Amino acid sequence: MEKTVVELFAGVGGFRIGLTNANSDWNFVMANQWEPGKKVQHAFDCYSKRFDKHSELEGKDSITELQLNTDISTVEAHEIPSHSLLVGGFPCQDYSVARTGATGLEGKKGVLWWEIYRIAKEKKPSFLLLENVDRLLKSPSKQRGRDFGVMLYSLYQLGYTVEWRIINAAEYGFAQRRRRVFIFAFKNDTNYSKTSNLTEEQDNLKDWLHTRGFFQNEFPIQNDYESKHKPVYDKTFLTEEIKDVADISDNFALSFRNSGVMHNGVIYTEETLPDYTGHQVTLGEILETGRVDDRYFLTPQQIEKFNYLKGPKRIERTSKEGFSYIFSEGGMTFPDDLSLPGRTMLTSEASVNRSTHVVSDKVTGKLRFLTPVEAERLNGFPDNWTDTGMPEKFRYFTMGNALVVHLIEKMGKTLNMIFEQE
Ligand SMILES: C[S@@+](CC[C@H](N)C(=O)[O-])C[C@H]1O[C@@H](n2cnc3c(N)ncnc32)[C@H](O)[C@@H]1O
Repeated sequence: MEKTVVELFAGVGGFRIGLTNANSDWNFVMANQWEPGKKVQHAFDCYSKRFDKHSELEGKDSITELQLNTDISTVEAHEIPSHSLLVGGFPCQDYSVARTGATGLEGKKGVLWWEIYRIAKEKKPSFLLLENVDRLLKSPSKQRGRDFGVMLYSLYQLGYTVEWRIINAAEYGFAQRRRRVFIFAFKNDTNYSKTSNLTEEQDNLKDWLHTRGFFQNEFPIQNDYESKHKPVYDKTFLTEEIKDVADISDNFALSFRNSGVMHNGVIYTEETLPDYTGHQVTLGEILETGRVDDRYFLTPQQIEKFNYLKGPKRIERTSKEGFSYIFSEGGMTFPDDLSLPGRTMLTSEASVNRSTHVVSDKVTGKLRFLTPVEAERLNGFPDNWTDTGMPEKFRYFTMGNALVVHLIEKMGKTLNMIFEQE
């Protein structure tokens, strides 16, 4: 099988860097990235500069790469090249489905999961590797697990087996405490599936997660861990009441654990703990060691503001309905502890904001923001990756949207082995 990849919601190319680090023979046949409502498309500009299709594809016969800077919902399936692996990090939105009389079923407009579904349905890639925020498994709060159930059910209908795992990059030694759900799906007609010996039995599915599955290879888990949250084995998709995805959308709820697998409509999900005892990269280790520009240092006013923002507080507030209540939040370590991995980087990094990292500079000992290079290092991007002409604010923004590329590199190693069998 050709190692052809389509990268959706490509941002500044985290999936591509990770996969290419694992093996340089992946052919990226298409990338799509579009920041809604923005005239200047900083992430796309960075992507296309860094992956200059002309120079990179030189010598690779008959492979042409499409880089599209348009809303994915406007891209017709026939414009998308055939590919064996579809990758992308997409937002957690409302995946509910409504019945629409004669036309059948309809997901909400602008919900990007349905774009992935549409492309998977038309182009039938053998493998999908997707990333999302961990709360996807619990959404929405009024019907926990519905959205992920909708996703699993629609992939089941398309003939995929799905495995997922919430991974906190720091728990496997990397520099950032960033917790994301990774979703790996494979078509049931692949060699990988045929040789997987997967059945719908609970013990077999459990064994898959622990010893044979996609994630356990590079992300080992503790085998003797017994969580107080018991595993869930669920056959709802196979019950007679479920006729289509709208039934799932209306009725399905499940307490998804951080790891799981869905095979032939049967779900097994279990709370697992990482098993990692190697080196832990800390925030201190990724800081620049030389002098950094004065503009990153905090002014006395900013220090005062951060002291307040990061401090504990109890504030009386009034709700929209006119009720008064106490808003309270605990204090945060300020400045950030350099002997620990960094916290989760958000798109607002380096603005005066409670979640922004503030560090004690290695040379002067004074308090400062992270530099854009340090933000890149927190995600494992090469230094200055986003230094492609965008304002600094957007360098932080794109990193807040991106993923920890080391994780994709590890998954890429497993994918390389899988593709060798196809
Ligand atoms: C979570 S980020 C993915 C970042 C990427 N994995 C990286 O490493 O940089 C999602 C991306 O989807 C893009 N996006 C949002 N809506 C889109 C749409 N309708 N069409 C195409 N891209 C979209 C956003 O601009 C954002 O860059």
